[in-house]
Amino acid sequence: MVPGHSEWKRNLLLVGFMGAGKTTLGGILSKRCRLDFVDTDQLITEKFGLSVADIFSRHGENTFRAAETELLHDLAARCRHSVIATGGGMVLKDENWRAMRQIGPVVFLRADEQELVERLSSATGRPLADDSGREAILERYRQRLPCYLRADLVVETKNQAPLEVVDAILGGLERVNPKWLF
Ligand code: S3P
Repeated sequence: MVPGHSEWKRNLLLVGFMGAGKTTLGGILSKRCRLDFVDTDQLITEKFGLSVADIFSRHGENTFRAAETELLHDLAARCRHSVIATGGGMVLKDENWRAMRQIGPVVFLRADEQELVERLSSATGRPLADDSGREAILERYRQRLPCYLRADLVVETKNQAPLEVVDAILGGLERVNPKWLF
């Protein structure tokens, strides 16, 4: 039995701050390993029929967070053979971590702070970043860092091409636990 993971379901979860590349890398990784790709933000927006920004503005952040937790419980019950890209705030609740541990190994994509700020200032649609200045973004990131570091594996993405990051994820997971061979 793998500590913290009751059953090997051939899933893996990507966590990290907004703009870390979870969705992009998750897509590449899933194709490479012939796994399905799940994006929690996308499933939640489909459920509400609204963008993330509209869910926040019409229903509030708490409603979005509750939907995230409910979705994780659902994935813990049924998800197999999938790479799951999570929203940047998924790591904030202990309850989410308990569900994630049942789903599979958790990988933190650790991006360079400057790159994060640059990516977030050139993109929109993220209610917790759109109106935030550089310092507020960095403060949020630094506050959350201990939560991201609860991951089974930390992969640095700075100066790495996507395929190199994918290799680092797969090699790293195998080193941490040879059972997690994708
Ligand atoms: C959030 C990150 C977003 C999305 C929502 C909240 C966060 O996902 O879930 O805007 O709290 O960090 P991405 O990390 O995919 O941008």
